[in-house]
Amino acid sequence: MKYIIAPSILSADFGNLQRDIEMINQSEANWFHVDVMDGVFVPNISFGFPVMAAVKKHATKPLDVHLMIVDPDKYVQEFAAAGADRITVHYEACTHLHRTIQLIKASGCKAGVAINPHTPVTLLQDVIEDLDLVLIMSVNPGFGGQQFIHNTYKKISYLKQLIQGINEDLIIEVDGGVGLQNIATLVLAGANAFVAGNAIFATDNPKETISKMKSLTQNSLSV
Ligand code: DX5
Ligand code: ZN
Repeated sequence: MKYIIAPSILSADFGNLQRDIEMINQSEANWFHVDVMDGVFVPNISFGFPVMAAVKKHATKPLDVHLMIVDPDKYVQEFAAAGADRITVHYEACTHLHRTIQLIKASGCKAGVAINPHTPVTLLQDVIEDLDLVLIMSVNPGFGGQQFIHNTYKKISYLKQLIQGINEDLIIEVDGGVGLQNIATLVLAGANAFVAGNAIFATDNPKETISKMKSLTQNSLSV
């Protein structure tokens, strides 16, 4: 089983973005997690295309773009053109979710759907076979550095059951409050991709923290 570490650049130092991107390039991380917030779907605004382009220019690993925006259909193609490899939209922001998923795939990207802490995983049942990834929010989206919500473990296990015999290659990604203290338990619950912002960038040696997270995923079965 391959486990993916996706540092969230939302917690990077934007005054030294290139330095932080290069740190991730040289680390054991697998993807760059790119959080786009519109101030409408979530109570915060992060960044848009110019910053995406700057990340793309220096990043040597895939860009995992998490759109916390209303009406994402309007921007899917532009994010794909700006270098996204994966685009994840929110279930709660999409009236015609099936159509949005097809649009992401038609733009050449892998398609993901994110669910907020209050949204049951069963609501994804009828699109599960169309998806490459489900992102389970383990905090309410909008900010880095929040506390992990424990009900997430149960949701991961439900989702793991739901995909059996339908789409077992689906990536189960967890986002919010993930770090050294809970990553091994998240692996045991069934997650295989881990977003971390604060837990990486607020440490003295982010590259080493990424390495520790990676080894905890690999050793978790013996925990
Ligand atoms: C929250 C974002 C997360 C955030 C995670 O809305 O989707 O990706 O950056 O940050 P931490 O790991 O600090 O909770
Ligand atoms: Zn995110």
